Amino acid sequence: MRNHFKYIILGGGVAGGYAAREFVKQGLNAGELAIISKEGVAPYERPALSKAYLFPEGPARLPTFHVCVGSGGERLFPEWYTEKGIDLILDTEIVKADLASKVLISASGTVFSYDILIIATGSTVIKLSDFGVQGANAKNIFYLREISKADKLVAAIKTKKNGKAVVIGGGYIGLELTAAMKTNNFSVTMVYPGPWCMPRLFTAEIASFYEAYYTNKGVNIIKGTVVGFDTDASEEAKSVKLKDGRVLDADIVVVGVGGRPLTTLFAGQLEEEKGGITVQSEFLFALCGYYSYRLLLKVGKTDGCFRTSVPNVYAVGDVAIFPMIQYKEMRRVEHVDHARKSAEHAVKVIKAIEEGEPLQEYHYVPYFYSRFFDLSWQFHGDNDGETVLFGKNDPTSASRKFGAYWIKDGKVVGAFLESGNQEENKAIAWVAKHQPSISDPSLLKEKGVGFAIGT
Ligand code: FDA
Ligand code: NAD
Repeated sequence: MRNHFKYIILGGGVAGGYAAREFVKQGLNAGELAIISKEGVAPYERPALSKAYLFPEGPARLPTFHVCVGSGGERLFPEWYTEKGIDLILDTEIVKADLASKVLISASGTVFSYDILIIATGSTVIKLSDFGVQGANAKNIFYLREISKADKLVAAIKTKKNGKAVVIGGGYIGLELTAAMKTNNFSVTMVYPGPWCMPRLFTAEIASFYEAYYTNKGVNIIKGTVVGFDTDASEEAKSVKLKDGRVLDADIVVVGVGGRPLTTLFAGQLEEEKGGITVQSEFLFALCGYYSYRLLLKVGKTDGCFRTSVPNVYAVGDVAIFPMIQYKEMRRVEHVDHARKSAEHAVKVIKAIEEGEPLQEYHYVPYFYSRFFDLSWQFHGDNDGETVLFGKNDPTSASRKFGAYWIKDGKVVGAFLESGNQEENKAIAWVAKHQPSISDPSLLKEKGVGFAIGT
């Protein structure tokens, strides 16, 4: 096995796969690139794991959702990497990184070296055992990040057929996994601390639609805090104990209480902030220093090229905290669209530097989405400022089209839409990007999604 590569992508997830495709697009010689991944399969579209992968009938299985099918592109089957002369080094966890010496060391002691490194290690799950919750290591408590964990959950769904599931967490995983467990005919209780589900995006009014919709589907929603589990002799949780004294019977427990970017390998070696690896315009950073750089960012005079504070080391996807030019702020994004685009952008930067060409700026406007039951929503832009709700947020109505605009400093900065069609989703994306001025917010309520289409 070769151990030195011109380029190494550390992490074979969404960003890893899209970066590999971009290297090939830009021109890559056989033997130049390796992807090192802890997972045992070629890069795939992670969002499938909490959706079609868990369908009781006709579930999605690899190879159908290898990257880059999510962006409407060609699927990169394992053979694609071989054909392109890319070393796909799977089932290999890197446990030590020495960025000064440009080496990575695997758990089995293999030493890899590189000229250029792209860090695409993504996130890991926050566990209830991290907070010392009693009994949290029980065998039937599931977290979902990687396909191997999804397989364990699928097996448990079969073993505990038609049983009782408790889903802990009211965020993305909580909502998507509750729907998946319900669709698998489990009796489901969802538990999260109040005041409403997905508070980092949803307003109370948006959340009330989804909470009512879930309740109508037979989901029992409890606003509470889990303090422990009663386990049996086989080390399985039999019940979930809440702080207020309630006890919920469980055959399966699914937990989604947040993610944490995987940056520990690089602690003390790279500039970090808010848990992410700082990426910036290396040239401006070196020229003017950290504080002036931040000032330049505030006045919109700098870009992000996904270069970290160490030369020839890039960070993309969930781990990168980057200048979001539109909002003049350093931000991290834990969603698939940014993972894809940041990976492609970093590779373009690498190639532009090699060829002495000007660097392009990363102008990113956040976009994320979710799908559960027969619902599907999109959000574009920034969820900052006042909100105006529009449409019918009545979960019993046949048309479930409703949404919200966020208004800041007289401009529409963000838009959310449930059950939008292609044209409508495109229109709200346009609004988020162009931020039209609005003098009378009542117009937004009156026109609803028509405002975005007509703008
Ligand atoms: P990603 O997590 O995809 O890949 C990181 C890779 O690095 C993994 O293969 C990991 O094993 C590997 N790795 C980490 N450390 C390593 C080490 N030391 N050595 C070797 N390999 C290592 N977003 C969205 O917009 N819409 C959606 O519907 C969903 N749905 C969704 C469902 C589920 C179940 C999850 C977990 C996440 C989503 N997301 C999402 C979020 C989205 O999937 C996420 O933002 C991207 O996968 C991030 O891409 P990255 O490549 O940064 O990390
Ligand atoms: P999240 O941050 O979306 O939600 C965490 C939820 O857990 C919050 O509602 C919070 O109130 C709740 N919570 C926190 N501590 C708790 C506790 N002790 N007990 C009960 N509830 C608690 O995180 P997630 O849903 O776990 O998702 C993990 C990662 O996967 C994130 O990066 C997310 O962006 C990503 N993801 C995204 C999508 C999507 O974009 N559609 C889908 C699935 C996962």
